[in-house]
Formats: sequence, structure tokens, C-alpha cells
Amino acid sequence: MARTKHKKLNEVSSFENVFDYKAGNTEEELLKYFGNSNSISLEIGCGEGDYTISLAKLFPKRNFIGIDFKGARIYIGAKKALENKITNTTFLWINAEKLPEFFKNTKIEEIFITFPEPHVKRRSERKRLVSPRFLEFYKQIIMQCGHIHLKTDDDFLYNYALEILNKVKATILFKSDDLYSLNELDEIKKIKTRYEKYYLNEGRKIKYIEFVLS
Ligand SMILES: C[S@@+](CC[C@H](N)C(=O)[O-])C[C@H]1O[C@@H](n2cnc3c(N)ncnc32)[C@H](O)[C@@H]1O
Repeated sequence: MARTKHKKLNEVSSFENVFDYKAGNTEEELLKYFGNSNSISLEIGCGEGDYTISLAKLFPKRNFIGIDFKGARIYIGAKKALENKITNTTFLWINAEKLPEFFKNTKIEEIFITFPEPHVKRRSERKRLVSPRFLEFYKQIIMQCGHIHLKTDDDFLYNYALEILNKVKATILFKSDDLYSLNELDEIKKIKTRYEKYYLNEGRKIKYIEFVLS
């Protein structure tokens, strides 16, 4: 393992705004960090956390948790949040499939899935963050009628998500296969993730689905 990655992995768990599921950190510890009863929303696959931080800045009266199973990526967002004293953000180092085991008492207000890997091989379907398996996990933790957002540059994943959402009879509130061709976007849809900036530079079109599970 490269030295810097090793250093980040050693250090990240000691950050007061990082909670490590495998190390036994609990929901109660995480809630205590926020120190309020404001609503909680998640970014799943947050990578370096810049989108989670942008949401937290946009909505100071709400709490946001960046979720990722790569500790070295979380390190960057967590450090930035601490340095900038953004206290309505934490990071949870966990595989998203364990979220129902972690959130036993909390109902999540909103979920953002930003630029997940498409996992195009058929046998990798279970890893897709919008597969029926993952939608079932989200259903267990989200409030009734809580909105779920998917942002992607990937045609395959966008079409797959529409097909699955149709199958599970989800209500689609908004969809676009070319988000930035639209004139009026709300503040959330305009936030750009780190990966998104690369994709836009390459001239790729950004796709978006906002939905509610029934
Ligand atoms: C392509 S990156 C996108 C990062 C960020 N959302 C962005 O747009 O800049 C996808 C991220 O999802 C994370 N990820 C993929 N599957 C996951 C899972 N099952 N649980 C937690 N994180 C996951 C990866 O570690 C990676 O950081």
C-alpha cells in the first residue's frame, strides 16, 4: 500500500467527524456528534466528500453524512469539513449494504447517490447502488416519501435505474438525460461532484433521476 494511503487510513478513524462501522462506532455516537435533532440525509459513495460538504453549506439546519467504503477518500472530505468548521457533516466509513444494520433508530430524510460505478457485467449487478438489493436497503432506512436522487454520466446505469424503478413501482418525480440542457435547476441539482467536473470537461451529458420508493 502506498505510504500516503496507509497514513490516511491510520489517521482517518481518529477524526472526530468520522465513524467507522467495522471498528464498532455506533449510530448513537454519530448522532451525539451532531448534537441536535435536525434531519439527516446521506450521500452514498461520497468519495472525497465535496458534494456532502456543499449540501451541508447550502442547508445549515440539516445534517449530512457522507458514506463510502474507502477510508482514504473519506479522509479528504472529513479533513476539509473539520478545517472549515462545518459541523453539520460527518462521514461514515461503511459498505452501504450495512446501512440498515447501522441506522436502527434513525429515519433518513433524503438520499443522494452520486456517480456510482455502473458495474456493467451482469454478475456484478448486486454491486450497483441502484439495484433492487440496494433499493431495499434504502427503503429500510428512509422516511416514508423520502426523496432519493441519482446523478450519473453513464447511459447504461441511467437506463438500468429507470427499468428497475419501473419494476419496483417507484414514483419518478424528475428525470433528465441531459440535466444541464434544462434552464431552471434547483440549488441541489446544480451542485457538482468531483467526478462530475471531470465528466463535464470530457463533454459528457449528466443524467438525473429523483424518485420515491413505494
Ligand atoms: C465513482 S466514485 C464517485 C465519488 C463521488 N460521488 C463523486 O461523484 O465525485 C464512487 C464512489 O462510491 C464508493 N462506493 C461504491 N460502492 C460502495 C458501497 N457499496 N458502499 C460504500 N461506498 C461505495 C466508492 O468507494 C467511490 O468512492
